[in-house]
Amino acid sequence: MYGMVNKAIEDMVGMHFGAEKWEQIKLRAGVDVEVFMSNEGYPDEVTYQLVAAASEVLQLPADDILVAFGEHWVLHTAQEGYGGLMRAAGRTLPEFLGNLPNFHSRVSMIFPQLEPPRFECRDITANALKLHYFTHRPGLASFVVGLMQGLGKLFRTPVTVRLLEARENGADHDVFAVTWVPAAP
Ligand code: HEM
Repeated sequence: MYGMVNKAIEDMVGMHFGAEKWEQIKLRAGVDVEVFMSNEGYPDEVTYQLVAAASEVLQLPADDILVAFGEHWVLHTAQEGYGGLMRAAGRTLPEFLGNLPNFHSRVSMIFPQLEPPRFECRDITANALKLHYFTHRPGLASFVVGLMQGLGKLFRTPVTVRLLEARENGADHDVFAVTWVPAAP
């Protein structure tokens, strides 16, 4: 994955736990990289090792770290670094979710080697939809939960996310029920 992902983990850890914890996490992960370069590719393994080591050093379940990372990704990494892209994708939560299937094709213009996830929105109603998430990478369902929670905060729209079908349990791909409180007319 592009270095911006590992940089974002560093940023999140630094913000909540301090730079010293980040050094401990890198050491525990066996990751000998002084500075991650946003535009350079790193093996996915590096990211997985960092999350596993963060879970051990911070004594938090890896899924909790992924949820927090999803929120951080939307509210800080995306919003502060790529505000224009984010704003172009919608002014409300449902609008943004409707554009999510096309979102990373825009991102690919900045990061040509991107191996993005694929999203599909199905069963769309005024306050809910089913989000289908396809990726070759395992174990990131909790990251998607955090991303949805982050979007809820970004659009000041209370949202609930439930994993309906999990790849971890043998499903073809992860499916989330996303429900929100519709904006007052
Ligand atoms: C402008 C904002 C965004 C940028 C620049 C961005 C960029 C990226 C990058 C660089 C990766 C790593 C993949 C790779 O390097 O091959 C990634 C992965 C991912 N992104 Fe985005 N992204 C953005 C917003 C979002 C949003 C809003 C969502 C969903 C709500 C999302 C969902 C994901 C997921 C789930 C992955 C994990 C990879 C996978 O599933 O295989 N991203 N994105």
